[in-house]
Amino acid sequence: MPFADGADISAAIPLSDLQGRNHIIKPDATARNLTGAINALIEKAGLRIVAQKRIRMTREQAETFYAVHKERSFFRELVEFMISGPVVVQVLEGENAVLKHREVMGATDPSKAADGTIRKLHAKSIGENSVHGSDAAETAAIEIAQFFSGNEIVG
Ligand code: CMP
Repeated sequence: MPFADGADISAAIPLSDLQGRNHIIKPDATARNLTGAINALIEKAGLRIVAQKRIRMTREQAETFYAVHKERSFFRELVEFMISGPVVVQVLEGENAVLKHREVMGATDPSKAADGTIRKLHAKSIGENSVHGSDAAETAAIEIAQFFSGNEIVG
């Protein structure tokens, strides 16, 4: 699996051990100045933010990123939203990161998210739901490689 710079991702992130996760703070959250508040919840949940950058996604990047949803009715809306403002793309690591990450984010629909989760506390709706998290080790590696070069993840 190559990074954006062609380096081998498996050499840089031991995904099987540390369960590297892709996490994105979405435009509704950056617009409300919630990057720090969300990062505090991530760190309190026992995850390490090992790479982070604030970018404005291009339409092409957003369409590639969400290609798995391209047949869904909300695809256009999702892409428009993701390019409507800055996002913060991150790599998270930690023991049991998959579980911890899922727990701290809360359900996709904030009305169904548990108390104390990022989405319960901050999300506005199912579309403007403040954060994205990769859903499996394989998708995490693909998503991370889309945004980061090998030398940008230093542990
Ligand atoms: P995310 O985890 O980023 O992955 C896909 C996104 O699609 C999801 O979060 C939601 O923000 C969005 N999404 C899912 N269902 C809907 C929906 N019914 N309407 C609008 N957006 C949706």
